[in-house]
Amino acid sequence: MFLIVVISFSLSTVVVQMEPNVDSSYIAAVYEHNVIQASDPVIPVSRSDALRNMQKNLDIYEVQAAKAAKQDVQILVFPEAGILGFLFTTRLSIFNYLETIPDPQKESWNPCTELGKYNNTEVLQRLSCMARNHNIYLVANMGDLQPCPMMTDLSSSCPPDGHWQFNTNVVFRSDGLLVARYHKQHLYREIYFDPPPKPEIITFDTPFAGKFGLITCFDIIFYQPTIELIEKGVRQLIFPTGWLNTFPFLDSVQFQSAFSLGANVTLLAANLRKETVPITSGYKTMTGSGIYTPDSATYHHAQKGDPEEGKLLVASVPVPQWVGQNVDTEKGSVRAPKTVSSVPPSSSTFHSSVKYDPLTFVLLTETEGKVNVCNGTFCCHLQYRLIPQGDSNELYALGAFAGKHNERFFIQVCALIRCAGNDVSSCGQEVLEAESKFDFVLEGTFGTTYVYPSVLASRFVLE
Ligand SMILES: *[C@@H]1O[C@H](CO)[C@@H](O)[C@H](O)[C@H]1NC(C)=O
Ligand SMILES: *[C@@H]1O[C@H](CO)[C@@H](O)[C@H](O)[C@H]1NC(C)=O
Ligand SMILES: *[C@@H]1O[C@H](CO)[C@@H](O)[C@H](O)[C@H]1NC(C)=O
Repeated sequence: MFLIVVISFSLSTVVVQMEPNVDSSYIAAVYEHNVIQASDPVIPVSRSDALRNMQKNLDIYEVQAAKAAKQDVQILVFPEAGILGFLFTTRLSIFNYLETIPDPQKESWNPCTELGKYNNTEVLQRLSCMARNHNIYLVANMGDLQPCPMMTDLSSSCPPDGHWQFNTNVVFRSDGLLVARYHKQHLYREIYFDPPPKPEIITFDTPFAGKFGLITCFDIIFYQPTIELIEKGVRQLIFPTGWLNTFPFLDSVQFQSAFSLGANVTLLAANLRKETVPITSGYKTMTGSGIYTPDSATYHHAQKGDPEEGKLLVASVPVPQWVGQNVDTEKGSVRAPKTVSSVPPSSSTFHSSVKYDPLTFVLLTETEGKVNVCNGTFCCHLQYRLIPQGDSNELYALGAFAGKHNERFFIQVCALIRCAGNDVSSCGQEVLEAESKFDFVLEGTFGTTYVYPSVLASRFVLE
């Protein structure tokens, strides 16, 4: 029944600071949204056509905000691209969907009550009034259009058309005030958006739960801003995403829960819902949202064939307690065990690709024991006892990989996986079901304290 994975990214040290001690909990909600896309997002449209498209999604947001308010939700998170859609092909094709979002660190603006202050801000106004009418903190993702400054050191990053287009999270207080604006750092094939000229570390405070940090989708993999927020002591992250599920290491709910556990933070994750999103080689699925703490997970993951529909998740979340200062300054000493048993690497290794990554594997041939497998100097060690279920005769293998994942970013992975068939050549092929149970300890010589452990069981159930 198990597919066990430990992933780490090449990051550095943890320095955690104090936060006020609040002994309480609050009610959070995330909405997984089946975004209504423009009928032809390739062709540039007028502002009124763009608004007509966006209002369809905002109508759904309105219904969900009302539903959430009825359940006493205090903060509601909508996904990345949930208002815009994500099929645009050029800067021009998204242009009329964008609004110029004033910087809440420089000025105080409540779009719902100060309607006439800026033109072309219908989306901001609608979101602000939604927050205000339902008395709820609201986080949504939209597009920000910012003219390049004329004479600053940032001008050099100005696009040729004279303005920036940012993938942006906005946060409204429960009275409608715009309290935070975050520009996504790590774009993923979004040629119509620009990364901000400088990475942004954006947080906001709430009366019910203290501080939250903002990240968007692909950002979660990288040092900036994600780990920087954590190192600054932020214990709660908000994560609007449009996540393409990548089995077996980067499925949405698998990575969300692993991140919450490994980074020891609360994660409010709202994903889009689409069964088939075309990619260069076939298609991928978008689903998988949740409210995670290191001790709990309230999540939703649609299965193949499920209806393509939205899902509101509501959970009570404890406010994180104080953590000690400077928990760790030495790489690898907090959560990542670095002392791996002296069992010599098993001799009968073989190589097989798991999606994009060539893993080095060793088969589990006994019902219990210890095995080691290395990829260069990076080693994984497994101590296990296999408890076969029924008359199943499943084949398992331990794999290690240290290298560049899908030509995009470096990872170190230790993985215990079920092979698809009874033959060595099937190890690494996609398999969605398994029956066996394991008692196990899995360790790796990770080069970082940020190690994200996950156990994914049949049909995307988290263990
Ligand atoms: C908004 O647009 C109208 C009509 O184009 C113009 O008269 C008005 O000055 C603009 N207001 C602001 C705040 O820019
Ligand atoms: C996780 O953070 C909490 C405070 O939010 C702290 O009490 C706990 O010790 C931390 N756990 C680990 C494993 O670092
Ligand atoms: C891991 O193995 C791959 C090939 O399977 C190899 O290209 C890569 O260099 C190895 N990594 C290390 C750290 O040795």
